[in-house]
Amino acid sequence: MVFTVLVTISVLIGGAVELIPMFLVDENVPRISTVTPFTPLELTGRDIYIREGCVGCHSQMVRPFRHELERYGTYGRAGETIYERPFLWGSKRTGPDLSRVGGKYPDLWHVRHFENPRSTSPRSLMPPYAWLLTSEMDLDNLDTKLARLKSIGTPYSDAEIANAQASARQQAEAMATGIEASGGPSGLADKEVIAVIAFLQRLGQDVRAAGLTAEAQP
Ligand code: HEC
Repeated sequence: MVFTVLVTISVLIGGAVELIPMFLVDENVPRISTVTPFTPLELTGRDIYIREGCVGCHSQMVRPFRHELERYGTYGRAGETIYERPFLWGSKRTGPDLSRVGGKYPDLWHVRHFENPRSTSPRSLMPPYAWLLTSEMDLDNLDTKLARLKSIGTPYSDAEIANAQASARQQAEAMATGIEASGGPSGLADKEVIAVIAFLQRLGQDVRAAGLTAEAQP
């Protein structure tokens, strides 16, 4: 009996000593100064990405192997995903890794790809997501979403929270205008596809801005 109590106490103390610093010490994850929180529109797209289960076929984590570095770019760092809740590293690659896909294709390529993946990528196994081009984005709770993320540590300012919907609409409007100008469909400014594309175009940009390369081993 005494033995059980002693073992329990030791395990509890040992556990606390291991776990408490992990949650409290901020420097546990090396920060990357160019990594900033998602814009409200990108956040909306990220939630659609989660809803549609894209993570079931796409990882967002480049491993530090030569063939991966040559295909995707520099390897994934923990500091890249500090504002991702939940993170979307994934564990399955039916399709390619997406953590460096931002800027790889123009917005219009993504519109066509979602409408019919085989129009841009012959023999693609990716299912079409044509409804993203017609279903409207739900921006109703965007400010609450940002506020909740702030309460668990994502540094959104009060102004960013108050302007979340307006900022999302503005970014979407600019993207939709660009898509139309490059010969794509019109009227996408309030459609879900724009938010998903905004999210995809962001992936890898912060790391690129930091100039991190595979050689820059931590
Ligand atoms: C059943 C598996 C599957 C699902 C689910 C899936 N994809 Fe894909 N995806 C693929 C495959 C395979 C490719 C490679 C061929 C192609 O370009 O279509 C691909 C390619 C892509 C590319 C181009 C990547 C590159 O570097 O060329 C993007 C972007 C993409 N998918 C985004 C998404 C998003 C966003 C979703 C969810 C809405 C999604 N995919 C769902 C299988 C999938």
